[in-house]
Amino acid sequence: MDFAFTLNHRPWSGQLADPNLTLLQFLRREGLTGAKEGCAEGDCGACSIALLDRGATGQPAWRSINSCLVPVVILQGREVLTSEGIGCPAKMHPVQQSMVNHHGSQCGYCTPGFICSLFEGYHRTDLKTQAQLTDQLAGNLCRCTGYRAIHDAACEALQNRPTPVPPAGPVTFATPPPAALDKPLLHRPATLAALLQLRADQPDLRLVAGSTEVGLEITKKFRSFPALLSPDAVPELHVIQRHPAYWEIGAAVTLTNIGDAIGPDFPSLAKMLWLFGSRPIRNRATLGGNLATASPIGDSAPVLLALRASVVLASIRGTRTVPLDEFFTSYRQTMLQPDEI
Ligand code: FES
Ligand code: FES
Repeated sequence: MDFAFTLNHRPWSGQLADPNLTLLQFLRREGLTGAKEGCAEGDCGACSIALLDRGATGQPAWRSINSCLVPVVILQGREVLTSEGIGCPAKMHPVQQSMVNHHGSQCGYCTPGFICSLFEGYHRTDLKTQAQLTDQLAGNLCRCTGYRAIHDAACEALQNRPTPVPPAGPVTFATPPPAALDKPLLHRPATLAALLQLRADQPDLRLVAGSTEVGLEITKKFRSFPALLSPDAVPELHVIQRHPAYWEIGAAVTLTNIGDAIGPDFPSLAKMLWLFGSRPIRNRATLGGNLATASPIGDSAPVLLALRASVVLASIRGTRTVPLDEFFTSYRQTMLQPDEI
């Protein structure tokens, strides 16, 4: 299938043959070996890269994510930076220079991942406290345990940021090219109606949002999907909106954006999200995905049950609203019908 995205400030286009190819595998095949494979399950951060995404208010925001979990095909039209694109020896980014200044790299295995997480932190206008900085780095492990030097480097880079904090850029999102699909490996409908129609026509098509769960099926269970269905371009699924009596959260909103948007109203939810997973995981994981997979270790369900949340299930037949305490029917089973999202 034709595939195009922006990689390290340059357009990349070519053919993709396998929808299960992870971004990390793709990058290393391209010779970009800064990102490493440590755990291949989102735990270590060695594979971290930066993705240009939307923040809670829709503003462009760099997000550090685990490239080991993301099928590259779902990044059609998106923009990615690796440690090689953040800076180079002749012109290092301030976070890289601080890492050098403080001898934060020992064997260096973890360093590119730390750089990408620090890069996100550098461009975050809301990052102001030590606790936030610690959280920003929590998804990256250093096997040489060079944490003190890395932390010092992080503090220096962030303290010396210009004011105001430089915004994430470029400020536009690349538009996917009109694809002449010889074999559609990715379906990314632009409207809710089209998504529901695809769901009805091809209920076996695997729906994937952040891919923190599907990625594990690929890397750990060695499942191979013939094609993927992405809800990324459906505006309704990215809504975070306060109504007089409740908050409406689209199923494809990331946990990071949920915490930013409604954390002040629901401190218990914000506190739980900090413990949910590392920031690179929260930058991709979605509430819809966490609930729909019905994992017994899915951490969002207990707090949402306590808050008496409901889920809205949609199909071409219409929508229905189900209290969350009725939604889960058994181990990894829910009321979702095959044609519903
Ligand atoms: Fe460990 Fe990706 S390789 S998080
Ligand atoms: Fe060796 Fe961090 S410097 S793993």
